[in-house]
Amino acid sequence: MQEGKKISGFSKLSKTDKIQWLAQNFLYSNPIEVVKDFASFWHDNVEDQKVFEGFSENTVSNFHMPFGIAPNFLINGKDYAVPMVTEESSVVAACANAAKYWYDKGGFKAEVLNSTKLGQVHFTFKGEAEKLRSFFPELKEAMITGVKHITKNMEQRGGGILNIELLDLIAKEANLFQLKCSFETVDSMGANFINSCLEAFAQILIDEIQLSPLFTIKEKDIKVIMSILSNFTPECVVRAEVSCKIEELGYFNNGAMKAEEFAEKFATAVRIAEIDPYRATTHNKGVMNGIDSVVIATGNDFRAVEACAHAYAAKDGQYKSLTHCSIKNDIFRFYIEVPLALGTVGGLTGLHPLAKKSMELMGEPKAHELMKIVACVGLAQNFAALKSLTTTGIQAGHMKMHLNNILSHFHATEEEIEEALVYFKDKVVSFSAVREYLHVLRTA
Ligand code: MEV
Repeated sequence: MQEGKKISGFSKLSKTDKIQWLAQNFLYSNPIEVVKDFASFWHDNVEDQKVFEGFSENTVSNFHMPFGIAPNFLINGKDYAVPMVTEESSVVAACANAAKYWYDKGGFKAEVLNSTKLGQVHFTFKGEAEKLRSFFPELKEAMITGVKHITKNMEQRGGGILNIELLDLIAKEANLFQLKCSFETVDSMGANFINSCLEAFAQILIDEIQLSPLFTIKEKDIKVIMSILSNFTPECVVRAEVSCKIEELGYFNNGAMKAEEFAEKFATAVRIAEIDPYRATTHNKGVMNGIDSVVIATGNDFRAVEACAHAYAAKDGQYKSLTHCSIKNDIFRFYIEVPLALGTVGGLTGLHPLAKKSMELMGEPKAHELMKIVACVGLAQNFAALKSLTTTGIQAGHMKMHLNNILSHFHATEEEIEEALVYFKDKVVSFSAVREYLHVLRTA
């Protein structure tokens, strides 16, 4: 049997030993140099470094991402400077631009429509579904009282179990049933709370059926397949919008495009994303550029938010835009409806030093307020993207950032950057074109 580079006990090695093993087995470089490389991204303070290492496993270094700010967000009359963590150039600039654009037009209005989280216990039952159904009210009662020790604190904070339903899935899979459970988790994302409740429900389900004289031996052979929260939370939704009179939209393309034309083009661009899944995917990717960056900045679970947003976008059977636009009675209205299961207590939010700073920056929002801020950022990001796409095109802005990145790669001086920005104003930016330009400039 080939052992290759299989290793046991990697997790038990010290950080330095882990890196040395990588140097010897994968990087084929001087281990001292490799350790230096990885160590150059460690936190100076050992205690702070330990905090980062505690978030995950087998940590050998820290992966830095830019922490930017989009100021000028006016949301429900309150000012925010929103923290955004993203690696994509133009995202923060575009978002900040849209926030400022809407500031003088009344800013953003946002409201949380609901905040129900879901979890499921999947199980098989080889018996009469009707018998299970008739037993369910008793079982439900037992489950709710049986988890009081878990729900007590959550109830004190205003949350807890909202409902438990029995779903019969036997038309799709033989013997398959589900407990569909809904929860209010107030300011926590609630994953731990929900999963603890679900696992306890599963045990109570087994115990109660075992004890009940209603069921035969065969029926008592109930099998819990799994108990886990659902990241699809179509009833944890926030709506955010901007609106103004069409004439207030102003002029575009240096005055060449009037407000009416812009509004029509913009609304059509949104409509395209409502009818064409190819465009909808890119459109929603742009929305998520904004949403993810605040979700990451606040230490929330961006994978959960992403998965849910896309499932929600496809909830009617076809993948569609998360944002919508209307033009009625001379009013331009642009809005988003998006599910956001976010937390402001527990998890990384209270542990990551910059997530804590993000929360402080936004005035320590509760979960509902954070949902509103994040939805507004998603809307702003999408507005910025569509505004560029329907006016100048996206490349003008992107290329400027791209040029800056290439110039920084070649360690261009301030003077060189200034000259390059002028030179490339009407030229195609590429890595080789910038290298050539700098070469000529530097050897002149
Ligand atoms: C790029 O990250 C996002 C955009 O493609 C979004 C869009 O096309 O709407 C600009």
